[in-house]
Amino acid sequence: MKKITAEQLRNLYLKFFEDKGHKIIPSASLIPENDPSVLFTTAGMHPLVPYLLGEKHPAGNRLTDVQKCVRTGDIDEVGDASHLTFFEMLGNWSLGDYFNYESIGFSFEFLTGKDYLAIPIERLAVTVFSGDEDCPRDESSANRWKELGIPEDKIFYLPKKNNWWIAGKTGPCGPDTEMFIDRGTEKCSPDCSPACDCGKYLEIWNNVFMQYYKNEDGTYSKLDQKNVDTGMGLERTLCILNGVESVYDIELFEEAKAEIEALTGKKYGESEEVTKAFRIILDHVRTATFLIGDTKGIVPSNVDQGYVLRRLIRRAVRFGRNIVLPDGSLSKIAKCYVEKYKNAYPELVDNQAKIYDELNKEEEKFSKTLNDGLKEFNKVVTHIQGTTFPGKTAFRLYDTFGFPLEITQELAKEQGFTVDVEGYENAFKEHQKKSSVGSEQKFKGGLADQSETTAKLHTATHLMQAALRKVLSPDVSQKGSNITTERLRFDFNFERPMTQDEIKEVERLVNEAIKADVPVTMEEMTVDQARASGAIGLFDSRYGDKVKVYTMGEFSKEICGGPHAQRTGDLGEFHIVKEQSSSAGVRRIKAVLTEKAN
Ligand code: SER
Repeated sequence: MKKITAEQLRNLYLKFFEDKGHKIIPSASLIPENDPSVLFTTAGMHPLVPYLLGEKHPAGNRLTDVQKCVRTGDIDEVGDASHLTFFEMLGNWSLGDYFNYESIGFSFEFLTGKDYLAIPIERLAVTVFSGDEDCPRDESSANRWKELGIPEDKIFYLPKKNNWWIAGKTGPCGPDTEMFIDRGTEKCSPDCSPACDCGKYLEIWNNVFMQYYKNEDGTYSKLDQKNVDTGMGLERTLCILNGVESVYDIELFEEAKAEIEALTGKKYGESEEVTKAFRIILDHVRTATFLIGDTKGIVPSNVDQGYVLRRLIRRAVRFGRNIVLPDGSLSKIAKCYVEKYKNAYPELVDNQAKIYDELNKEEEKFSKTLNDGLKEFNKVVTHIQGTTFPGKTAFRLYDTFGFPLEITQELAKEQGFTVDVEGYENAFKEHQKKSSVGSEQKFKGGLADQSETTAKLHTATHLMQAALRKVLSPDVSQKGSNITTERLRFDFNFERPMTQDEIKEVERLVNEAIKADVPVTMEEMTVDQARASGAIGLFDSRYGDKVKVYTMGEFSKEICGGPHAQRTGDLGEFHIVKEQSSSAGVRRIKAVLTEKAN
C-alpha cells in the first residue's frame, strides 16, 4: 500500500478520474443552497441531487470532486479513534452515463494499480446487495468483481441495512457495492463479514448504483437515468494506507496536535482522558474553522447552523478545561488548519480574520460562564433523588450560563443522570415563544424533506421576491436562499436597510397575493423561452436545457426547481421577522408563515 499525504491522495484521485473522461468540479459549500431539510452538506452527492434526478450538469455526465462534508449526528462519539464531524469525500459520478461494470473497473484499477494505491488484491474484500422485494440481488456487480480476480469467499452479499445508500428518508438511492481492506486478523466467528464490527474489515470506498427514488410512502420508483455515486472518505483512507490506528494520527492533524501540546504541556496519548480531550478539540476546531471560513460562512448563534457551530465551539472549550487549555487557544489551533488546508481550500485564507475573530469571541463568551455553570451543575446533582436531571435546571444552565442542552446532557450522562428533555423544552417555551427545537431535530441530517410547510415557504419566497422588486427596485435579485421547516431566509442585493414602511408594504403585497388564492402552475421550457416569458431567476447554465417556470397569477413568474404549494391561498399569513445585513450590498430577510388569524 502506498504511504501518502492528503494532498497527494486528492490529486491522485482527481487525476485518475480526469484521465477516465471525468471533469473535475470544485467542492460545493458546506451550507446547502435551497435545501429545506438539512443544515449541512453531509455527502458528496448532496449538491448533485438535481443532476442525479435528471437535470443536465454544465460540466457533463462524468464528474469527479473532493467535497467538504459535515455530519454532526454522531457528535457524542467524537473522542474515539474514528469519529469526525468534518471530513472530505472523494467522489466520482456518472450521471446517466456508465454504470456498475465500468464503475467497479475504475475502482479496482485505482485501488490495486501500482501507480495508484497499490493495495495487494488479497487484502481486498467487497460486499454487494443481496436483493429483496424492492430490488434484485446484484449478481452483475458480483460477477464483475470475480472477473477482476476477487475470489468468491471475499464477496459478501448483504441486505439493505448494509448495502443500500440513501441520504435521509426520501430521495435518490440504490444498492451499493462497498470495498474493504481485510486487516488479515482471524475471523471473529464463522459468519464474520464486513457487516460485523470486529475490526477485521475496514471500509474504504462505496459505489452506489443510484437508479431509484424512495417516495414518502416508502415505495421505490425507477429514476429516468441510472447513475453512479461513489464516496471515499479521505481521512479514513489515509489512516488505512499509512497504517495508523486512528484518524487523528494522520498528517492532517499533526500541526494542530503539536500546537495543543505546546499550549497545554500535555502529550497526546499520555492517558485516555487526555487523548479524548485532544481529539474533541482537534475535531471541533477543524469543523468550526471550515464552517466559519466557508464561502457562505456562518457564525455562532442560537438557531440552525449557527447553533451547531456554537455547540461545537463550546464543547471544545469544555474539554479544553480537562487539559488546561488556556483561553484564546482555539484561534491558534485554527491557524494550523488554515495553513494546512490553504491550497485545497483557499477560502480559509480569505476568511481567516473572521475565523479567528469568531472563535475568540465565542470562546471568551463561554469561558466566562463555564466555571459558574459547572459549579451550579454539580450543586444540583448532589441534591437529585433518582436519575432524572430536572429540565428546568437544564434550561437555566442554557439561559444563564450558555450551556447548550447537549452539553448538560453529556455532563449528566457522565454521572449517571438523564436530562428531562420535555421539562427543558417546556421551560424554553414558557420563556420564549419561539423554541429552538427545530435546529436540534435537524442534527441528524438527511435529504429532501419536501414537506408541505417547506413547499409553502418556497412559494412565499417567490411572492416575496416579486414584492421586493415592486417596493424596492426591479433590480433586486436573489443572492441566496435557505428554507427550513420553520422559516424562509432570503438574501438579495440592496444597498441599505429597508424602512419599516417598506417592510410593511412587502408584507402587505405578499398577503394580498395569498388572499387572491391563485393557483401555482408549472411549465417546463427552454432557458430562452423562460427569459422571453419574463420569468425571473437564475439563468446560469447549471440549469441545462429545460427549466421549470412557476407562475402565480400576475404576481410572480420565476425559474425554480420547486417544490411549491398548489395555491397561494394555502399559505396562511406572511410575516417578516427580521431584516438585516448579510454582507456588503446584500440584505437578508427571515420570514415565517402563520395560520390565518380568522
Ligand atoms: N453517497 C455515498 C456515501 O456518502 C457514496 O458517495 O457514502
